[in-house]
Amino acid sequence: MTDRPYEIDVLISAKVIAARIEELAREIEARFEDTDKLVVVGLLRGSFMFIADLLRELNLPVEVDFLEASSYGNEMTSSREVRILKDLRGEIGGRDVLVVEDIVDTGFTLSHVLSLLKSRDPKRLETIALLDKPVRREVDISATWTGFEIPDHFVVGYGIDYAQRNRNLPYIGAVRFT
Ligand code: IMP
Repeated sequence: MTDRPYEIDVLISAKVIAARIEELAREIEARFEDTDKLVVVGLLRGSFMFIADLLRELNLPVEVDFLEASSYGNEMTSSREVRILKDLRGEIGGRDVLVVEDIVDTGFTLSHVLSLLKSRDPKRLETIALLDKPVRREVDISATWTGFEIPDHFVVGYGIDYAQRNRNLPYIGAVRFT
């Protein structure tokens, strides 16, 4: 399947992403205005570009940590079993935490990660997802903030891959097989 030729149609331009990140940053600042330090947790690998741009917009004291959970492998189907491949380096007990996710699709990944992090007793735990595909949802969960709701397209770019390709595109594109 990964060798099938495909083209990429622009779905969300770099300019539109940047404008939305500015709005989201203001909302996050308002929610955490009294924080002594916010632990921003990026879910690898798809959130790396989003977290980099979001943090540059965010006027709050922050720490950055990363967590990697397995979800897709190389297939375009969602796996139900979520495994933690890389855990946080730091402690989050009693801390303000913001989890940064690329896409909420079925919701299995986010729900698994949130129950793991909740078990460590953070003071506040909020989530932000750049993209949300509500029609694909199988677990009743949603992020505190969502960048864009999108239809059921397989998307790439802005950190998001198809079989490890296309992460470096500056925009979000939809994969169209040719
Ligand atoms: P969920 O557990 O089904 O919600 O899947 C979440 C993860 O699946 C995301 O963090 C992505 O890594 C991956 N994923 C979901 N949809 C897409 C897509 O359209 N393109 C690439 N990866 C995706």
